[in-house]
Amino acid sequence: MGRPFTAPRPAEYADVPPAVRPAVRPTPAAALPAGPRSVVPGRTTLRFVRDTPRFLMDLRRRHGAASAFELRGELFVALFAPAMVHDVLVAKQHDFVKGVGFARMRKVLGEGLLTNEEPVHLRHRRMMQAPFHHSRLDDYAALMATLTAEELDRWTPGTVLPLAPTMMRLTLEIVARTLFGTGAAHDAARIGAAMDVAIDRIERTMLPGLDRFDHSSLPWFRAFARASDELAAIAERLVRERRAQGVTAGDVATARKEEDLLGLLLALRDEDGSSFSDDEVRDEALTLILSGHETTANTLTWAFSYLATDPEVRLDLEREADAQAWLMEGRPPTVEELLATPVASAVLNETLRLAPPVWVAPRRALRDVDVQGVGLPAGAHVIVSQYVTHRDPAIFADPDRFRPDRWVEGFERGLPRGAYVPFGAGTRRCLGDQFALLEGRIILLAVARRFRLVPTGRRPLPRAQPRATYRARGPVPVRVEPRQAALRT
Ligand code: HEM
Repeated sequence: MGRPFTAPRPAEYADVPPAVRPAVRPTPAAALPAGPRSVVPGRTTLRFVRDTPRFLMDLRRRHGAASAFELRGELFVALFAPAMVHDVLVAKQHDFVKGVGFARMRKVLGEGLLTNEEPVHLRHRRMMQAPFHHSRLDDYAALMATLTAEELDRWTPGTVLPLAPTMMRLTLEIVARTLFGTGAAHDAARIGAAMDVAIDRIERTMLPGLDRFDHSSLPWFRAFARASDELAAIAERLVRERRAQGVTAGDVATARKEEDLLGLLLALRDEDGSSFSDDEVRDEALTLILSGHETTANTLTWAFSYLATDPEVRLDLEREADAQAWLMEGRPPTVEELLATPVASAVLNETLRLAPPVWVAPRRALRDVDVQGVGLPAGAHVIVSQYVTHRDPAIFADPDRFRPDRWVEGFERGLPRGAYVPFGAGTRRCLGDQFALLEGRIILLAVARRFRLVPTGRRPLPRAQPRATYRARGPVPVRVEPRQAALRT
């Protein structure tokens, strides 16, 4: 028996008002911003589905910072101005819950930190803060550097490497080892394959009307259900095995330093002494694997692709890599050393601006709420998009160009609130932001020290394939050139 596709909402969660159907319950037009209206039924839905980032960019070009439209008869409001983004994610976050897609994600993740809601979310978030505390980051960085060096040792100069799946495998290995230690070594390939199917299809199966195929025998849909169930089964087994080894609930601060994340999750206790149930640990573990590898892998694939289009920045990065004592001495880096890498940090910031792995944050309005003069009716779908807001020409000069040089000291601090939110904001801000940025810096610098990756495709940049995350389409082949040879060219 696998996980259900649609489980009832836990009783503690707030009731979500029904979606607003303007045809049935007209909304006072004055309160809502203008937006695309189509006389042909379903045309807007089709355009939205075919290329959502483009649809959203068109909305901003034609209608400005806010626009309202209907998808399958339900009201959606897109909000792009930084102040609006800040209202939805931070200032008025309690007027919203996570929107379209997240309910669907429960098939894969159950009730983990990404999908759960208040008051459960806050309790879990409080508990899960500890494993991501600064004091643990040095250990994670050491593991990341070791696994990266092992991966690079396997690269053969002169050969063509499929960059996207390689980054996916490396970041999965990093998060799986951090989470399960060596306990999941023989499950890694199965977890990777199942995650790949699940992530690809979470979004596809969210398309309006496709849920009627949930229990069909069509292989495409069966594969999604099978992958989700397999992930749950593997995580359940790993939790059971670890419990059997006698992990007891206790204080995380006293947990052994070498304890992996699974051990910590089992040991976590809330202020009232309660700990996670096995099902909760299973869901949180799957959530960390899913949110912790695909996002970082996509960022790296885009970063190496952008770097190949900008030889000057690539050279700057290589110089920074050559100056890293930890790379020269073949030892693990400290967090402090990694934070002092302005070029790698700017490359990551700029990549996360242009190709934010989480490119939309869908929400639902729990009640009538005013966002910077836009009156949202209770039940409205709300779309905030990192992809669009990060390209606001009023904030980022030359918004479509890859220009890491804009991230000079103090640039980020000077941005308006809500203008740059690759990791979200508010209580739902990414738990793994520091983890991801450390990992990104390590992999960028370790590769730059030894190799140059030269795209072999015809396009300078890969095409995008926006799914639940903003992926590059296809394997993104690159030729692996050893640095010494590359330096002679
Ligand atoms: C470049 C890499 C990453 C990016 C761009 C990213 C982005 C995000 C964003 C935007 C959210 C908020 C989603 C929303 O508000 O709708 C989020 C949530 C989350 N992320 Fe990340 N993430 C990254 C890496 C990671 C890593 C490495 C981990 C864990 C190891 C992680 C764990 C989580 C978790 C648990 C949440 C849910 C937090 C909550 O609701 O309390 N992420 N991430």
